[in-house]
Amino acid sequence: MGGTAIGLLHPGEMGAAVAGCLTARGHEVRWVSEGRGPATAARAAQAALADAGTVTALAAETGIILSVCPPHAALPTARAVAAAGFPGIYVDANAISPGTARDVRTIIEAAGGRYVDGGIIGSPPAAARPGDGTGPGGTRLYLAAGPAGREEAVPAAEVAVLFEDTALNPVILRNGNLTAASALKMAYAAWTKGSGALILAVRALARAEGVEDSLVAEWALSQPGLEGRSRGAAESAAAKGWRWAGEMEEIAASMTADGLPGGFHQAAAEVFRRAASHSS
Ligand SMILES: NC(=O)c1ccc[n+]([C@@H]2O[C@H](COP(=O)([O-])OP(=O)(O)OC[C@H]3O[C@@H](n4cnc5c(N)ncnc54)[C@H](OP(=O)(O)O)[C@@H]3O)[C@@H](O)[C@H]2O)c1
Repeated sequence: MGGTAIGLLHPGEMGAAVAGCLTARGHEVRWVSEGRGPATAARAAQAALADAGTVTALAAETGIILSVCPPHAALPTARAVAAAGFPGIYVDANAISPGTARDVRTIIEAAGGRYVDGGIIGSPPAAARPGDGTGPGGTRLYLAAGPAGREEAVPAAEVAVLFEDTALNPVILRNGNLTAASALKMAYAAWTKGSGALILAVRALARAEGVEDSLVAEWALSQPGLEGRSRGAAESAAAKGWRWAGEMEEIAASMTADGLPGGFHQAAAEVFRRAASHSS
C-alpha cells in the first residue's frame, strides 16, 4: 500500500494535521478543493497536499480515503465518494454515532468500497512529534477491526500501519464491534464536551439571576478549578460550538439508541449553538 496515494476529506484543523503525519512518512496525500474555502486551501498547502480538484478525480486516483470533517458532513461526504464508485478503503474518523457510522458503512459498501470505522481522541497531532501518541498530550486514531476473521473486508490493520511512527497513534479495537471506534469517541466526548456545556449553562443561570460573582466566589472557596474550567469552556465553545452542536446531537442519538436518556446532550447541543451564535 506504500505507493498508493491517500485522499483526505477535508483538511480542517484535524484533517490537515492527520495528513501532515502521512506526508511526513513519505505518503502522497491528495485533497479536494471543490466547495472548500481559502482557510482549507491554506492548510492543504501547508501540509503539502496535492489537489485532486473533485471527489470523482480523488476516487479514481487514491486507494484509501480518510474522512475527517464536521459530524453533519459525514454522510454527504460518504455519499459523494460512493457516487464516484470508489472501490478502495474508506475510513470515517468523525465524531458520529454508531448508528450514523453504520449508515456510512452501508453507503460505502453498496458502492463496492471497504469501510473502516475510526475515531480521533486528542488534539491535532504535530508531525514534528513522531511516536508521541501514547502520552497524555498525544493523539489516538481508534480503528474498529470488527469480528475476527473479517480482516479482508474490514482492513483496520492496513490503515493502522500508515500511521506507525507518527504523532498519531493508531489503536485497533478488537471487541468484534464494527463501530467500536465511533462508540468510544461518543462516550469520551459525552463527558469532555458534555460537562463543558453543563458548566456554561450553570454560569449562564447565575448570570441571569444576578449571582454570577457570588457563584465564582463560592467556587473559589469550595470548588477550586471550576472558574478556570468555565472560562476555558466559554473560549472553546465560541470557536468550535457550531461543530460541537452536531457532535452533541450524535451523542444524544447514541444514548437514545442504547435506551439511555438523550436529553443531556440535546441540551448540550443547544448550549453550544447559542455560544457559537453569540460569538459571531
Ligand atoms: N480539532 C480537534 O481538536 C479535533 C479533535 C478530535 C477529533 N476531531 C474530529 O475531526 C473532525 C474535523 O474536525 P476539525 O477540527 O478538522 O474541523 P475544522 O477545522 O472545522 O475543519 C472542517 C473541515 O471540513 C470542511 N467542511 C466544513 N463544512 C463542511 C461540509 N458541510 N461538507 C464538507 N466539508 C465541510 C471545512 O472546509 P471549509 O471550511 O473550507 O468549507 C474544513 O476543511 C471532526 O469530526 C472532529 O470530531 C477534531
